[in-house]
Amino acid sequence: KFIPRVFSGIQPSGGLTLGNYLGAMKRFVDMQENGGFETVYCMVDLHAITVWQDPADLRRNTRELCAGFIAAGINPEKSILFNQSQVPEHAQLGWIFNCVARMGWMKRMTQWKDKAGKNSENASLGLFGYPALMAADILIYHATHVPVGEDQKQHLELTRDIATKFNNDFGVDFFPIPEPVIEGAATRVMSLRDGTKKMSKSDPSDMSRLNMTDDADALAKKIKKAKTDAEALPETLEGLDGRPEARNLVNIYAALNEMTPQAVIDEFAGQQFGAFKPKLADLAVSKLAPISGEMSRLMQEPDEIDRILARGAERGRALAAPILQQTYDIVGM
Ligand code: ADP
Ligand code: NA
Repeated sequence: KFIPRVFSGIQPSGGLTLGNYLGAMKRFVDMQENGGFETVYCMVDLHAITVWQDPADLRRNTRELCAGFIAAGINPEKSILFNQSQVPEHAQLGWIFNCVARMGWMKRMTQWKDKAGKNSENASLGLFGYPALMAADILIYHATHVPVGEDQKQHLELTRDIATKFNNDFGVDFFPIPEPVIEGAATRVMSLRDGTKKMSKSDPSDMSRLNMTDDADALAKKIKKAKTDAEALPETLEGLDGRPEARNLVNIYAALNEMTPQAVIDEFAGQQFGAFKPKLADLAVSKLAPISGEMSRLMQEPDEIDRILARGAERGRALAAPILQQTYDIVGM
């Protein structure tokens, strides 16, 4: 009944890391190329403004994120690639879902509790309602599959609850119940300074992350300085237990080179990290420097980026508008 279709979004809130590349964009490219799916990828600026964004930064970050998608291999002819606010049907369906979702469901979201913290009275209403808009992002395309990280699993559950409640309330089988496509443990990229923390743009230390905009020198320097232990690479994967930094570097090598962590161990067992790191640095430079180069080229062509986004929005609306119309019709509007 439903066409196999993937939806995912990333916030244009500034800064793209190796984590975003391996954990999100590279997976999106794989699904574009060989998943048997139609692929819809979105810069979710409406989500970004649930916390304060400087307007000039938001505009720049949206273009930079678009450049990042394209440099990573998203082809705007194959995938629908656009900016959320340019497809107003997201916000329109989001309102309907605000009226379907229950306060109690939203209050249980752990990300709401984490992000709003103790000062929740002063958080925006949008931050609280965010998961209902995320449900609309997915369901306005009748998407059937959503690649998600650990941190978004609960929100996707809520999307499934909203789709189910809508279908039940109105006695229809209109929205699909989308399936998560979970990231593998090996694509969770950890900080270069602390292997127990996720690599993140919000870490105060730039040495903790590889940025998609880093040049070859910066990449090599950060890998050279990455925290490790004094032991060699082990003979078996179990030998990485209790060694989060070592495991992380092995995982990064594996993900960048499209091999299993086991194959990395097989190749480098017994070598010191002093010998392994330069090889990882060469690999990272060979994979990431072309991406940062293409991103900076595109950033000098903002008109080209805006044209790509406008075209993507047109294609997005062609799918979204009829689904919104049918939704209105079901609701009695
Ligand atoms: P958002 O708030 O849009 O989720 P993030 O920058 O946290 O912003 O993440 C964007 C995407 O990148 C998400 O799909 C997330 O799972 C993925 N991602 C971010 N950091 C990492 C990481 N360190 N390892 C794997 N995936 C990551
Ligand atoms: Na996130």
